[in-house]
Amino acid sequence: GSGRFFIGGNWKCNGTIDMVTQLVKDLNAGSVPSTVEIVVSPTFVHLDMVKRTLRAPFQVAAQDCWVSKGGAFTGEVSAEMLHDFGIPWVILGHSERRSLCREDDELVGMKCEYALSQGLKVIACIGETLEQRESGHMWDVIDAQLQAIANHTTIGNWTNMVIAYEPVWAIGTGVVATPEQAQEVHAHVRAWVAKNVNPEVADTLRILYGGSVNDQNCETLANLEDVDGFLVGGASLKGPSFIKICNSEH
Ligand code: G3H
Repeated sequence: GSGRFFIGGNWKCNGTIDMVTQLVKDLNAGSVPSTVEIVVSPTFVHLDMVKRTLRAPFQVAAQDCWVSKGGAFTGEVSAEMLHDFGIPWVILGHSERRSLCREDDELVGMKCEYALSQGLKVIACIGETLEQRESGHMWDVIDAQLQAIANHTTIGNWTNMVIAYEPVWAIGTGVVATPEQAQEVHAHVRAWVAKNVNPEVADTLRILYGGSVNDQNCETLANLEDVDGFLVGGASLKGPSFIKICNSEH
């Protein structure tokens, strides 16, 4: 792996005040290695509350932000607002936003550019659908997603970004990618970045795997050469499971 192991917990559109309070309590009580960077991502309404109650080393991320400076954009939250609240990270281009909210590669690239310009660090998500994989379009899809991100990112800003590879068919399905499948794509992503961005950026870039990661399958995946961490959905809502996943790298 490259750099500090990274664990993201994407809480998606889940949580009540009570549930979030309990989850923060469980995380604060958990023991996690100091070598791992850990970032959890509550909804916008829970974000400030979680940021104020969660202890170090846990950090927080927003699940999205607007593509440019705030203004007359009803319903949106801007990158500069997140920065003002001391939110260090934002997830961009999650497959649920790509499919349900029709965010395309170019919009995701533009969001990355603006968020980075406002001092946020970015968890940029990529990944193919089952149909794209089975029809042989997987590499084209992944390369186009990477290209749009790279087009909008200066070399210096790559240190403020991690890439999350999340095959859509593995998200929330219980069907986790095999170690071979994950390693194959992660190696491809690193090679693509070496060739199309910069070899040093590729060496230090953290490439996360996401899609049905749990406390049973995390150890095998964590020890793959090009897996530098995880973006966890469902299992990040259960404190003890998430803490186990935070301890998966050996
Ligand atoms: O961002 C997280 C991913 O969408 C994975 O979700 O762990 O529930 O499959 P999951």
